[in-house]
Parts: sequence; C-alpha cells; structure tokens
Amino acid sequence: MLDATNFHIPVMLDKVLEYLVTPNSRLVVDATVGAGGHARAIMNANPAVHLLAIDRDPSALDIARVTLADYANRVTFVRANYAEIGATLREAGGVDGVLLDLGVSSMQLDTPGRGFSHGLAGPLNMNMSQEGTTALEFIRRASHEELMAVMKKFGEVRRAGRIARAIKKAADGDMLSTTRDLKVAIESGSGGYTPPGRLSQVFQAIRIAVNDELGSLEKFLRLVPANMNRGARLVTLSYHSLEDRMIQEFMKRESTDCLCPPSVPVCSCAHKAILKVLTRRVVKPTTAEVEKNPRGRSARLRAAEFLTGELL
Ligand SMILES: C[S@@+](CC[C@H](N)C(=O)[O-])C[C@H]1O[C@@H](n2cnc3c(N)ncnc32)[C@H](O)[C@@H]1O
Repeated sequence: MLDATNFHIPVMLDKVLEYLVTPNSRLVVDATVGAGGHARAIMNANPAVHLLAIDRDPSALDIARVTLADYANRVTFVRANYAEIGATLREAGGVDGVLLDLGVSSMQLDTPGRGFSHGLAGPLNMNMSQEGTTALEFIRRASHEELMAVMKKFGEVRRAGRIARAIKKAADGDMLSTTRDLKVAIESGSGGYTPPGRLSQVFQAIRIAVNDELGSLEKFLRLVPANMNRGARLVTLSYHSLEDRMIQEFMKRESTDCLCPPSVPVCSCAHKAILKVLTRRVVKPTTAEVEKNPRGRSARLRAAEFLTGELL
C-alpha cells in the first residue's frame, strides 16, 4: 500500500508535535512535506489545522497526497522551493506553525533513478526538484578547485583534492554518467577501497551543492518571520552541522534584544527579539529511536516561538 511509512519514517515525531502544534494552531506550514508522515500526525493532533504542504519534489507531493487523502479538504499542496514561498505565505495569512525537516527523504535515497545513493545504480542526477542542474552537469561545470571546496565544506571529505581531480578526469573523459561511475572515480582518487562512509560524504556534498541547500535555508530564515502570528512555532530538523549552526545562530540572534558589541555602552542597533527559543539545548533522537530508524540518527531538533506578529 502507498503509505508514508513505507517510504520514510518521520523523525522525532513526538517532539515535533510537542513543539509545533498548540490548541491555537490554525494554519501550519510543512515546508518539506516529503512522504507526509509528520504532516499526517499534525492533522491528527489538531482537527482545526489547515496545512500548507510544500515540497520541491513532485514525486514527494504525489506520495503526500495519498498519505493525506483523509484530510484532503484541510490541505493545500504547493510544489515550490521553500526559499521562494514568501508570496504564498503572505496570501495564506498569518501562519501558526512551520516545520522544516531538511535533507533528503528515504523515497529519494531509495529510488535508483534519482541518483542520490552510491549503493544503487542510477543516473548522476540528485536534483530534488527533478528540473534544473543535475549532479553530472554540476560536476562538468565546476572547476577542480570548486569541486574540492564543495567536498571539504559540505562533506569534510579527506583527500578532497585528489578525489575532485579523479572525478573531473572521469567527467572530461566521458566516463561519468552514473552513480557507479562516480563511485569508481571516488575510489580512484582515494587510492582504492573507499568505505561507505566516505562515499556518502562525497555524494552528500555534491547533493547539497546541486540543490543549493544552504542557500535555500538562508533565504527561508529571512522570509519566515514576517509571516508568523504571535505565538506561532518554528520547528526544524537538520541533519548537517552547517545547517544546524545556521538555525542555531538565527534563533540566538532573533531571541536577543540588542546586538551591539559589549564595548558599546548604549545600544545603537535597536534590534528587538522576535523569538523565544523553546529548546535551550538541541534535541537529539533517543537511542531507541535511532535503533528503530538509523537514518534519523544525525537529526538535530530546534524549536522557537514567535513573540511578534498578530495576536493568536
Ligand atoms: C527529510 S524529507 C521530509 C520528510 C517528511 N517530514 C515526512 O514525514 O515524510 C525532506 C523533504 O524536503 C524536500 N526539500 C528539500 N529541500 C527543499 C526545498 N528547498 N524546498 C522544498 N522542499 C525541499 C525534499 O524534496 C524532501 O521531500
């Protein structure tokens, strides 16, 4: 049966609901609806919720439509990059909750034709939106230095220079069109057998670059505050240290009244806190949850409540 849990186990579901859904929740945005597992639980948690279900991947939305079929009259599906939903949110009116569950879904990882996994033979695509630049095109266009920088920054890949050179060589020699070809190139740059962990780091780094994942998150964090009701909740799940740091810094900055350096005696920045952070420490999955869903092991949950906007 087509069902969210056949594709993707929603990560830290209880914690997400605890922080995201309140008795006052009316309009909730799932900005990365994926297979709709979190979304379905949100709809069950509060029958007054209308959900804006967003994903850039049309295949994800097809699955989410099935998962959420019982709630069809309370869900609006939007195919979009969450970095570009400012107008959609303004039109929808005040938002009471936003969930951002970053990264890839199991459906994307486990579909060979999407090219996300080094363990499955498929074309070198990795584009979540299924349109625009593919991983192969990205590699062809990037210089050796750019490719190396991407691997270092997004994957903390050791021997990034040599691996980047081997990948570029394969691309220049028309020997790079599949995930298998990329794996062979990585192995050649690493000097032989390459553990799955390092293969994953390289694939992840290229995926993050192809989909401009950090750029999208930065834009999203800029657009969200203007569209939130007072008391609205923001809950994020990130799987990469750079994403988590961006969210942590955003929450710290926006929950602070004055951002002047300590040496300035009188505040001149006039910055006012718009958030209250609800997770004093980042929340991680429990051991039991990691056992049940190893793919969620690197998840980091943060939550905040908006202090500004219309009163709920
Ligand atoms: C980890 S999955 C979400 C899983 C979902 N919470 C569930 O319960 O099934 C991440 C989803 O976010 C989507 N996504 C990633 N970046 C996006 C972006 N910039 N805009 C919209 N959707 C995005 C992916 O296509 C993927 O379906």
